[in-house]
Amino acid sequence: MTLSPAMREALARAKSDRIVYDLAGIADRYDCLVRQLPGVAIRFAMKACPVDEVIADLAARGAGCDAASPNEILQALGAGLPVERIHYGNTSKSDDNIADAYRIGVRDFATDSLQDVTAIAEYAPGSRVFCRLVTTGEGALWGLSRKFGCSVADAVLVLERARELGLVPAGLSVHVGSQQMRAEAWTAAFADMGQAIAALEQRGIGLQYVNLGGGLPALGYLDRRGNPLDPPLDEIFAAIRVGMRRLTTMSSTPLRFLAEPGRYLVADHGAIRAHVQRLSERELTDGERQHWLYLSVGKYNGLYEMDELQYRLVFPTHEEDGTSAGELVPAVVAGPTCDSDDAYVHEDNFVHVPAALASGDPVWIVSCGAYSTSYTTQGFNGIDPLEYQWIRGPRVRPIADDDWESIAELEFTTYSELGLSEGRAALESRARRSPETSFVLELDRKVAGYVVALPYPSLQYPDLHRPESEFSLTADGTADECGGVNLHLHDLVVAEGVRGRGLAKLLLRRLESIAIQGRRFATISLVSVGDSEGFWAAAGYRPQREVGTPEGYGSKSVYMSKALEVDPLAACPR
Ligand SMILES: Cc1ncc(COP(=O)(O)O)c(C=O)c1O
Repeated sequence: MTLSPAMREALARAKSDRIVYDLAGIADRYDCLVRQLPGVAIRFAMKACPVDEVIADLAARGAGCDAASPNEILQALGAGLPVERIHYGNTSKSDDNIADAYRIGVRDFATDSLQDVTAIAEYAPGSRVFCRLVTTGEGALWGLSRKFGCSVADAVLVLERARELGLVPAGLSVHVGSQQMRAEAWTAAFADMGQAIAALEQRGIGLQYVNLGGGLPALGYLDRRGNPLDPPLDEIFAAIRVGMRRLTTMSSTPLRFLAEPGRYLVADHGAIRAHVQRLSERELTDGERQHWLYLSVGKYNGLYEMDELQYRLVFPTHEEDGTSAGELVPAVVAGPTCDSDDAYVHEDNFVHVPAALASGDPVWIVSCGAYSTSYTTQGFNGIDPLEYQWIRGPRVRPIADDDWESIAELEFTTYSELGLSEGRAALESRARRSPETSFVLELDRKVAGYVVALPYPSLQYPDLHRPESEFSLTADGTADECGGVNLHLHDLVVAEGVRGRGLAKLLLRRLESIAIQGRRFATISLVSVGDSEGFWAAAGYRPQREVGTPEGYGSKSVYMSKALEVDPLAACPR
C-alpha cells in the first residue's frame, strides 16, 4: 500500500504532528466493498475511526453505523445519519445505556445472553434483537473470542426468550476477529449461522437479517517481523458470497445482510505525520550495542496496535525517488512515553532506518487510519492526543448546474478531434435522465472528469446527434421503463492533465457500486471509441460484435458490456 499523491502532499505540508484521513480513499474503499458484496448494507464500525467527516461521507454514500454506546449513537446522528441506519452493536451495555439508546430512537440491539436480552425487553420494549455467535478468532490478529458471543444452542434460547418477552428475534451476528487473515474463518462462521437458523426455524423463528460483523483486513500492514501481511481478500470475499448464498437458500424467510467493517474501510487511508525524537545507540547488559529510534508517536498516542504489527515508515527527508537514501542501521522503533511497552515487541527484528536521522526529522507512518484516534490516551506523560486533519483528494459528487460549462469543455476537448463531440445539450439531456448515475470528478475544486450513464435497453445506444428527450426508447414510448436492468455508460472522461493516476478506474468503481447497490442493474453497456477498447476489456467489458459498428461513433467503435458480478476491477488498489 503506497501513499496516494494527495496524502503525500498533505503529509509534506504538515509542519506539526497529526493524523491525516483521506476521505476520497475511504469512499473508494466503500465502493469496492459494495461491489464485492452486492446487496449487503454497510454499517461502519465507528469505533475504528470516530471522526465526524468520515462518518458523514460514508453516510452520504448510503452507509449506516454500528455504534457501541449512546455517545456513539449521538455522534452518528450528529454526522447526519438517520437513526434507522444505526444499531447498537455492543453486547456489553447497562440498563441505562439501553434506555438511552431506545429514547434516542435506536430499535436494533445486539445481544448474547439471557440477562442482556431480558434488560433489552424491559428498557427497549418491542425492539429487534440479533444474537451474536461466538467465534474462535483463529486466523485474526486480534481474535475477539470469549468476551462476546454465545454458542448456537444459547443463541436459540436467547432468541426464543426475546420472542417470549415481546421483542422481535430478528437476526444473528458474528465477528470473525479483527484483521482476519483466513477465508476459512468465514466459512466456519457461516456454518454456525446455518445451524442456528435451522434450529430457530424448527422453533418457528424465521430471521430478518444476518450481520456479518467486522474483521475484513487492511491491506497495507506489515507483520511483527516487517513482512507484508498480504491478506487473501479475493478468497475472503468469495467465501462470504458463498456463505450468504447458502444462508439465503436455507432460510424460509427473506434474509437481508449487513456488515460492520471498521479497519478495512479506514486503515489504509489514514497516515500519521510524526517526527523523530532521537536515533540513539546504547550498549545493553551483555555488551551488545543497539540502535533505538524514538518517535513522537507510539503505542499510547496513535500506534496502539504496534504489539501485533509493524507500520510502514517513510522518512521523507532521507529518501530519493521514494526509497531510503544513504546508510541504514537496524533499530528498535519506540514511542515517546516513559513506558517500556511503548515499543515494537520484536526486538530481534529491527527496522532499517537512515543512520543520518536527526531529532525533528519528519516521519510518515502509513496505514494507521484504524483505531488510532480511539486508542489514544489523554495526558499520559503530558503528551497531547494527535490532532486530526482530513483531505478529500479526488471527489466524486453529483453534477451541479454550474458544472455544465466545464463538462461541455472537457467533452469538446476530448471528442472534437475524433469528430465525435455531441455538444452540451445532448450530453446534458442524457445526464438529466439519470442524475444518480451521472456525476463529476472534482480535483482541487475544479471539474476534472465526469460520467454520464443512464438506463438503456441492451444492445442499443444513444444517437449522438439527438438529445435524449427527443425520441422515446421503447416501443410504447414510455421512457422511464427503458433500459430495464441495463445501465448504459454513455460517457466517461478524465481531463488530460490528470490522466494516468487511476482516476478513470475510480470513476468506474463508483458507477459500478451505485449500479449494484440495491441490485438495480444487472449489466452495464458502453460504446468504446477511438483506441479505448483495451482499457474497457481490462475492466471486464466484453465486445458484442453482433451489434456491428455503432453508427455515428467512428470506425473503431465497439459495443461492449459486462454483467455486474464480481470482477477484478473491484479488487481495491494496493
Ligand atoms: C461489534 C463489532 N463490529 C465491528 C467491529 C469492527 O471490526 P473490524 O475493525 O475488524 O472491521 C468491531 C470491532 O471491534 C466490533 O466490536
